[in-house]
Formats: sequence, C-alpha cells, structure tokens
Amino acid sequence: MASPTPLHSPTPTRRHRPILSVIIPPSTMLDRVLSLRRTTPHSDDSGPSASTAPDDESKIRKHQPFFFNATTRAFNYLSRLSGSGSYWLFAISLLLLLLSVSSLLFSSRGFVCVSSSSPFSRVGFFGSDVLESDFGALGVPWCRSKHGKTVEWTSKDLLKGLEEFVPIYETRPIKNNLHGMGFDHSFGLWFIARWLKPDLMIESGAFKGHSTWVLRQAVPDTPIISLSPRHPDKYLKKGPAYVDGNCTYFTGKDFVDFGSVNWPKEMKKRGITDLSRVLVFFDDHQNELKRVKQSLKAGFQHLVFEDNYDTGTGDHYSLRQICDQFYIRGGGHSCFRDSDEARMRSRNKKFWEKAVDIEELCGPGETWWGVRGYMRDNFNHSNRRISYSVHFQNSRFVESVLDVYWELPPVAGPSLTHQSRYDPARTSSPIVEDGRFGLFQRLGLARLDNSVFNGYTQMVYVQISER
Ligand SMILES: C[S@@+](CC[C@H](N)C(=O)[O-])C[C@H]1O[C@@H](n2cnc3c(N)ncnc32)[C@H](O)[C@@H]1O
Repeated sequence: MASPTPLHSPTPTRRHRPILSVIIPPSTMLDRVLSLRRTTPHSDDSGPSASTAPDDESKIRKHQPFFFNATTRAFNYLSRLSGSGSYWLFAISLLLLLLSVSSLLFSSRGFVCVSSSSPFSRVGFFGSDVLESDFGALGVPWCRSKHGKTVEWTSKDLLKGLEEFVPIYETRPIKNNLHGMGFDHSFGLWFIARWLKPDLMIESGAFKGHSTWVLRQAVPDTPIISLSPRHPDKYLKKGPAYVDGNCTYFTGKDFVDFGSVNWPKEMKKRGITDLSRVLVFFDDHQNELKRVKQSLKAGFQHLVFEDNYDTGTGDHYSLRQICDQFYIRGGGHSCFRDSDEARMRSRNKKFWEKAVDIEELCGPGETWWGVRGYMRDNFNHSNRRISYSVHFQNSRFVESVLDVYWELPPVAGPSLTHQSRYDPARTSSPIVEDGRFGLFQRLGLARLDNSVFNGYTQMVYVQISER
C-alpha cells in the first residue's frame, strides 16, 4: 500500500494538560451535556439559536414506534382471537411470541444490540425493511487522488488510538461543545495530528477552543496559529472555554481570514522552512474548493476539513460534494422519483436527520451537485448556482492536486452510539461495527453520553500538491 510521507514517524503520545483552560463546576457541565444539541454553527458565534432543531432526539425514540407498532399489531391480532373465545390459543401464542423475541435478542452478536449482519435485524421479524446500519448502501463518494496513494495508518491503528483517546476526551474542558466538534471528529483530528507530528498547526474556526485543545492533546509542544472572528475567551462569561498558551490568536480586531494572511511572513517569523511539516485544520464553514486553492497558493500540503458535508446537505461546498461524480463508485444521483435510490432515500429520511430525499437533493433541471446545484459558502450566507459542467471541472481540478483523500469512518455503528443524524447508507463502515458492544465497552466508549456521537460529517484528511 502506497503511503504519504508522515511528518514524523508515529510515537506514543504523552498525555498533555491544558496550558490554560477554564472549567465550570461539574453540576453545570452535566446540565450542559444533558441539554447538548448540535446544530449548524453561526458565523458570528452568536451561540445557540432558539430555532435550533431538537437534533439529539435519539434514534431510539424514532425506532420505538417501529417495535411497538409490531408488538401492538401482534397483540391486536391475538386479542381478536381471544375475543372470539380462544383464550388458550391466545396464551400459547403469547408465549411463542415472547420466546421468539428472546431468541432473537440472544442470537445477536451484541446481545441486545441487533447485529446488522443478522437477517433478523433487517426484514422479517418486525415486518419492516429498515436497516439500522446499512453502511454504504447509497454509495460513498470519494475524491480520486493523482497516484492512488492512501494513508499509512490501518484500522488497527485507529482502534489503538481510540483506546488511548477516550480517557483524554473525558478530561476535555468544554463538555458541551454545541456548534463544535463531537467525539468522532475530535478523535479524528487528534489521531491525524498525533500521527503527523507537525512543526506548526494552523486552525481556522476556533469557536470556544475545543479543537485547539484537541490539537494540543495530540502534539504537546507544537505552536498553533488560530484564526477565528471571536477570541475563545469571549465565551468565558457563559461557560468553559479553552485558551492555549502556545497559540497565536488572529481573533477579534486582529482577525484575518485564512486567504488573506501573509503566510510567508508568518512562516519566516517561526523559522518554518518546510511547509510539508505544517498541518492546517479547517472548521470555518467556507467553500472547501476556495480553501484548497488558498492552501495550494500558500504551499500547505496537509489539510483536514471538519465538515465534509454529503451531497444535498450542509452550508458550504465540500470536497465530498465536489467529488460526487457519476464515474465514482456511489457517485452521481438519479432524480427519478420512481427509482430504488428515491425509495431508499425517502425511507432513510425518516430515520436519520441528515439523510436527504430526492425532493431535497434535486433542484430545477434535476440539479443535485452541491446542494440542489448551489455552491454554498460562508455558513450559507453566500451561495451561487453552478452548472454541472462547472461542478465537473471543480472535481477535475481537485483530483489534479490531490495526493491523498481519507475520510474518517464513524467511530461506531448507530446501534452502539444511538447517533441519529448521519445516514449510514452514505458512509463507510465504522471503526467499531454494529453489534460489537463488548469492544465498544472495552474501549470506554460506553461511558460517553450518546449526544457526543451526533456530529459526524465525514471529516476528511487530504494531502495536496501542485499539478
Ligand atoms: C463550527 S465553529 C468551530 C468549532 C471548533 N472548531 C470546535 O470544534 O469547537 C466555526 C467557527 O468558525 C468561525 N468563523 C466564521 N468565519 C470564519 C472565517 N472566515 N475564518 C475562520 N473562522 C471563521 C466562527 O466564528 C466559529 O467560531
């Protein structure tokens, strides 16, 4: 397997205490965790809006009617029989029903978590064809790299990383990171930064400082440059925030957008001569094509995009959308209403908040690229309709500069995390597969609140170079 040159070879990570973090009393943090709702962040950092959707209403809630409907139907049927005088038949049938339910539960790999590979978990028993973890069934678009290179880390490395990261994550100063990263992406960023061991980390989009804290845990002594309109300390009045002692903040009146920073000057100031040793992390909800072009111009090669939105979703044009092309496995979309894709999408929409159906995906003239043919930018504050040929040219451009494209898989299947947002049919298989409750528990993931698993949007690591 070809692999990118790591900035450093991997070494065990030291646990690192925050250089300066501010923590609020545990009771307040608990309240905040319990009320956590992740929604689209705002460019002005104005905090949660009253109109935000009840995003974390767990998938279990949505699944309950499904189970209850089935049992209710069975009871109704048996009651009708008993109403006609067949009390014995009713009792025996009830016993058989209970036996079937218990045998179903015990036959699954995860004891109570129904395995996706079990035929019972799918069709048949509950009379529905809803697949709880139908990973990749609607295709997983990805960007082709120039020479087919991929990352050098393996799923074993990811598992090992998870084991190490969970206790670190538990010490995070910002327990409720509404509008910021949840567990999956925090792990992804930590893992990538720790693996690459850069000499400088640049972050665009800091919010309260959670991602700065994650970068700091990954690489204890590396300087950080953080660009964000508001300084994280501005959030302190409302709760915890993280301010790093080895970070230069371009915030407040010193804020400069990533595309306008004099990067040669900043590199010189810090004695950075090898730009391949710099990691740039974007969580600023800007058009990712624009950010790739700006990074190329500055000479940066290692980029992470936090919100790599799926086609038909999100507030900015993402690499995933750009590369969602007909010639890519799982790419392109049919806007035919009478199609398997349309049926599966409308079914999945009932179960996953981020799933999009054909109505949402397809705009006039059956446009589906970007979001209904729009190239969104800056938290959807600016957007432009583009033609398919422009969208296609964008993908050709991205492919021409791409050395590596790697999407972080979800950390665990939804039967374990109870995440209710991303549609598994559009993502790759998770690191901890559905049903592997023992492993989930051993890794310490069962200790975390379900709400922290609700922010997965296909975080991506890319390596780029001029054509
Ligand atoms: C989703 S939040 C970042 C969350 C943060 N990374 C975390 O994990 O906690 C997006 C941030 O981007 C900031 N932002 C808006 N426009 C920006 C820009 N042009 N450059 C950098 N940051 C920007 C917002 O103010 C907000 O703080």
